[in-house]
Amino acid sequence: MASVLVLNGPNLGRLGIREPDVYGSATFDDLRQMVTDWAGALGLEAEVRQSDDETDLVRWLHEAVDAGSDVVINPAAFTHYSYALRDAAAMVTKGGLRLIEVHISNPYAREEFRHHSVIGGVATGTIAGFGIDSYRLALVALCERN
Ligand code: DQA
Repeated sequence: MASVLVLNGPNLGRLGIREPDVYGSATFDDLRQMVTDWAGALGLEAEVRQSDDETDLVRWLHEAVDAGSDVVINPAAFTHYSYALRDAAAMVTKGGLRLIEVHISNPYAREEFRHHSVIGGVATGTIAGFGIDSYRLALVALCERN
């Protein structure tokens, strides 16, 4: 079974409490369960992780390269300024693996600082604005565009 790492950046552990008008009422545990179930139904094995710490996310991207796992990542605020995460993401895609950037909200319809992603240029593709369903669409893309 193909494995996929589903990585989540800062403040996403607070889903359900954090700005529910923007991010919805599902908690991070709900997200983990949904993503695990969607992946299973598609014949993928997903491991869902979250950290507020940039170094964890960089290390997990290195791990994906070493393990040969595709990645779905919601870099959260790091999307907009973390060159360390961009460089680690580039190692994934330049190494021949896929990395899909996802967002729950549509950052392009929000504050201007959210309009630029430093990750997007090295991602295989980006899915944004469909709530937690953005993750399902990313898994479908990984599965159907193999
Ligand atoms: C987000 C959008 C980012 O701008 C924000 O910093 C987040 C969440 C999203 O999923 O919509 O933390 O990545």
